[in-house]
Amino acid sequence: MHSKPKILIIDDEEVVLDSCIQILGGESFQVSTALNGSDGLRLVQELQPDLVIVDLKMPGISGFEVLDRLEEIDPTIVMIVITGFATVSSAVDAMKKGAYDFLPKPFSPEEFRIIIRRGLEKRKLILETIMLRHEKELLREHFAHIVSHELKAPLNAVQQNIFALEFELSGVLNEDQKEKLVRIKVRMEDLLKIIDSWLRIISVNIEELEKNFSPIQMTTPIYKALENIETIATRKNVEIVSSFGVKLHPVWGDVLSLSEAFVNIIGNAIQYSRDGSKVIVKAEENGTDILVTIKDFGIGIPKEDLPHIFEGFFRVKSGQAAPTGHGIGLVVSRQIIEAHSGSITVESETGTGTAFYIRLPKYFIEKSNKS
Ligand SMILES: Nc1ncnc2c1ncn2[C@@H]1O[C@H](COP(=O)(O)OP(=O)(O)OP(=O)(O)O)[C@@H](O)[C@H]1O
Ligand SMILES: [Mg+2]
Repeated sequence: MHSKPKILIIDDEEVVLDSCIQILGGESFQVSTALNGSDGLRLVQELQPDLVIVDLKMPGISGFEVLDRLEEIDPTIVMIVITGFATVSSAVDAMKKGAYDFLPKPFSPEEFRIIIRRGLEKRKLILETIMLRHEKELLREHFAHIVSHELKAPLNAVQQNIFALEFELSGVLNEDQKEKLVRIKVRMEDLLKIIDSWLRIISVNIEELEKNFSPIQMTTPIYKALENIETIATRKNVEIVSSFGVKLHPVWGDVLSLSEAFVNIIGNAIQYSRDGSKVIVKAEENGTDILVTIKDFGIGIPKEDLPHIFEGFFRVKSGQAAPTGHGIGLVVSRQIIEAHSGSITVESETGTGTAFYIRLPKYFIEKSNKS
């Protein structure tokens, strides 16, 4: 926060304003006042205060309208309402509108100072959170840049040179040397795959994803995913049995990223199933959610491993996991599902099978007004 916190008090009673100024007197704050809502809102634009104290009962623009406008102008401003004794219930309404706290009239200087201190602490936390989020985003971008440019590009160049060398030396190398070259190539490929996995994990940008959200049918990304993995299922002779509720309530989401999540989860179900078995894919309404169940009758996941499978780069060690995976499918899927305000849970028993449950909240109109 700036060195001197800026406080704006909007109240139609001059005596209240005067006493607030007196209580806050001294050098610690930059205090401004307004006698009505419209002057107050003009000052908010001009001064960009940290904290605004609003009287709920004012002639002209009411305190409630001021709160609404303040939220629109800058949702990070901390708002505190002052109310008469008779209007404590409206103070509760004000808090529903985003006010952080309320102060019933008459109040003592000490009560006023405490509420101001708490409000400013809240403001500090809000600003710190915004800053941390921004730093995290910068770090993510920076890391993605380092991984793709500083690591991946030189490794690609090394790989190309190995290919060239192999071609130039063909016929010259003995068996032992050829084997060493093969080992170098395999290690190189593994490294590049791991780098691609890192890049995929850090490239799930929630804010970017949210820009593509619209009301969709949950079945749309599921069908897309099923199309994608049909050949893998056929190759493994796994039958996918799907059952979708008729006319499901829509969800608020992005078809492409959700279908990526379903490709991962249904893909796992196929991959970790026995040849010739079934995978069940079900979508239904469940209270305020749409619930998707993906159930297989495959190798299952040991109990002690269950808490770790969403962590990233984790693979069940008991020897039965597919040889090709990198343990990123589930972490990326969880990121995508959580970006949709949803959840993913799992139940499993070794030797019997695994069920993943994906819940996404049903979409209601207010949501689109909020966003
Ligand atoms: N349906 C399932 N049945 C049994 N084990 C599973 C199932 N789904 C996931 N797992 C276990 O969880 C681990 C993590 O899954 P995840 O999809 O993240 O990675 P992966 O399949 O190993 O590799 P990839 O990154 O290619 O998806 C897997 O290695 C596997 O051990
Ligand atoms: Mg996988």
